[in-house]
Amino acid sequence: MIEQQIKSAIRDIPDFPKPGIVFKDITPILKDPILCDKILDAFTERLKDTKIDVVAGVESRGFLFGLSLACRLGVPFIPVRKAGKLPFTIKQKAYKLEYGTATIELHTDAFEPGQHILIHDDLLATGGTVTAASELIKEMGGVVAGFSFVVGLGFLNGRERIQPISDKILVLAD
Ligand code: PRP
Ligand code: HPA
Repeated sequence: MIEQQIKSAIRDIPDFPKPGIVFKDITPILKDPILCDKILDAFTERLKDTKIDVVAGVESRGFLFGLSLACRLGVPFIPVRKAGKLPFTIKQKAYKLEYGTATIELHTDAFEPGQHILIHDDLLATGGTVTAASELIKEMGGVVAGFSFVVGLGFLNGRERIQPISDKILVLAD
């Protein structure tokens, strides 16, 4: 089963990037092209009845499967980037992380008002990052179609935090 395969591939790194954090390292997944393909199959199958006009992937690990997922779904991909990386006119939002603070940005022409945006990231921890992405997308006139993640850290209650934004929450390994 895909959930078990993902869990077996992930490597736990204690005290990274700060003491007390057990970091879920997804890089072993990326070394397994058959598993990557299965992950994309699972996302595509489970999202087939969801209206999605655009996939927004969150820098940087949300880019890994985000673009491929958008290609599978036949829709545009837009990068949600950390501050100072996007060259065109931008809108931004500051937010808190499990282990720090950050600001995300989108190009002002990333999507059209009214479009349905799937927010994709590798991992759901506190949900702070995708909540900030949702707020930015909504301020720009987008509709949050749902969320997709490869992994969830259930004990941080991210799912509960993002549920009010959209109850379409796909986590392949929770
Ligand atoms: C990690 C991860 C998610 C976010 C999850 O990214 O890839 O984007 O944190 O945490 P949250 O649910 O508590 O917001 P990070 O900011 O470490 O950046 P990276 O992808 O560039 O490594
Ligand atoms: N692993 C990987 N990424 C993360 C984590 C983690 O434990 N927490 C927040 N982002």
